[in-house]
Amino acid sequence: MQIIPGISSQTLTKHVCSIVGELASVEYKRFPDGELYVRIRDEIEEPTIIQSIVTDSDLICLLQLIDACSEAEKVRVIIPYLGYARQDKVFKRGEAISARAIASHIKAEKVYTINVHSELIKNYFTCEHVDLNAGPVIGEYFSFAKDPIFIAPDEGAADLARSAASVGYDYDVLHKERISPEEVRTVPKRLDVTGRDAILIDDIISTGGTMVEATKILKKSGARNVYVACVHAVFVDDAVTRLFDVGVEQIYSTDTIESIFSKISVSKLIGEVIK
Ligand code: R5P
Repeated sequence: MQIIPGISSQTLTKHVCSIVGELASVEYKRFPDGELYVRIRDEIEEPTIIQSIVTDSDLICLLQLIDACSEAEKVRVIIPYLGYARQDKVFKRGEAISARAIASHIKAEKVYTINVHSELIKNYFTCEHVDLNAGPVIGEYFSFAKDPIFIAPDEGAADLARSAASVGYDYDVLHKERISPEEVRTVPKRLDVTGRDAILIDDIISTGGTMVEATKILKKSGARNVYVACVHAVFVDDAVTRLFDVGVEQIYSTDTIESIFSKISVSKLIGEVIK
């Protein structure tokens, strides 16, 4: 089985190949007008492409790689981070459903994503789709923390916090309580974080705004250290600086989007399912 490294997932693909498959050799270059050129140098029989869609150009690259594999009988595609998944329905009349526009163009035998943002996406792929969960992989990484507790910054992240904590830790969710008609207080719903290492966890960190607010609350609630963790480190503009400015001890993400914070690898998770 050959594993094809998409342009945005080269390091992750290399790590997957230490578990399963042979790393295929792919040439990438840009034409003078900026268009991407893709060529798979090896003979391809049973290809699995790994390519995150972080930028518009990453989508083009994935479509090119699928096309370059068109001689193969079956092509599997792994999209560790699927951008555009947040626009998963029409919020205002006339809008594009971006998630559908992208998913419906990916032709493969089977597509895997990791903690894809929208549940609706499974309706938009025209082939079999499996969403993998990186929660336990993230949970296992935090064995160094002191009395760790995973905290979801909102209800939307509760399942992820629960699954990270499923390896043997506590979890909780930040919850808004109305104290008076004028005053709202946000606190962990069930547990006391005083003196504990609190790990805020979400699927995506984009501007960092959600984590910044949640960090302030946990600091006020007496957490010993606040770490932030996410599956997909989008990190728009000054997100990283904003997180450190409010006292985040360290930022940890997986390598679905490769960055200096990708300390937790999803390579094993991928390797095991494609074996
Ligand atoms: C939202 O639905 C996601 O799960 C994240 O909470 C969101 O993308 C985080 O965005 P930001 O970092 O801009 O607050």
